Amino acid sequence: MGEPAPHGAAFNESLTNTTDREVPRHVAVVMDGNGRWAQARGRPRIQGHRRGVETARQVTSLCGEAGVEYLTLFAFSSENWKRPREEVGLLTQLLVSSLENEISRLHANQIRLNVIGDLKPFGIKVERMVATAREKTADNTAMTLTIALNYGGRWDLITAARTLARACEEKQIAWQDIDESALTAALSTIELPDPDLFIRTGGEIRLSNFLLWQLAYTELFFTDALWPDFDQALFLRALEFYQTRQRRFGRIGEQVRGSS
Ligand code: IPE
Ligand code: IPE
Ligand code: MG
Repeated sequence: MGEPAPHGAAFNESLTNTTDREVPRHVAVVMDGNGRWAQARGRPRIQGHRRGVETARQVTSLCGEAGVEYLTLFAFSSENWKRPREEVGLLTQLLVSSLENEISRLHANQIRLNVIGDLKPFGIKVERMVATAREKTADNTAMTLTIALNYGGRWDLITAARTLARACEEKQIAWQDIDESALTAALSTIELPDPDLFIRTGGEIRLSNFLLWQLAYTELFFTDALWPDFDQALFLRALEFYQTRQRRFGRIGEQVRGSS
């Protein structure tokens, strides 16, 4: 994020060619395959997670160059607590320390940092660190980077349902006021538009409880590449995939062509 872009002129040219066409405004990523990447090399899984943090840094910089306005990275799911205790401990430590270390670099690059997910299990210190980072970067305009940490789509929907139920109980709203926009506004992603492009590395064709409501009309790109191997060429392939899609949102092709 702070360093100059690590790619050469040839790549810049293909990036420019690709980004001359429509670039997704919001890209959401399931960064999967770190463990397998390390295991294939006979190394402990945590080394894959460390490489994964580097890939995240590089993809953030690529998104900035491409003109993506919002990047959301799934770093730790509400189900990942079920992993062996040692991995959970090392991984959560790595994620929290990486977040802390990246703040000044993000800020220097005009990136606004946002975190979604239930931070309570990480303790008050981490909650405060995140709140301070959000405040510090709040006015940055280059891009919004959202890290999903202890995030689950079902958790998000349950939290929103409770918020709306309480607002009804306290007579701030009537039950009839609960519509699509009220629910959208009660989710943790209130500051973000719905993702345009979803990317999942690691070969699995599933959402694994990521942004369940928000992904309703997102274009879905899956690759077998493991997250530490996700590079510039694959990023471009995902953008090009997006550019070949016709987004109909329920309408027919002629209507969409007619309106553009
Ligand atoms: C990273 O990949 C995703 C996280 C939960 C941090 P994994 O740790 O799931 O790697 P694989 O899928 O076991 O290879
Ligand atoms: C999804 O990956 C969660 C993150 C990338 C943080 P998982 O590796 O946890 O997904 P499953 O368990 O294979 O569905
Ligand atoms: Mg996995």
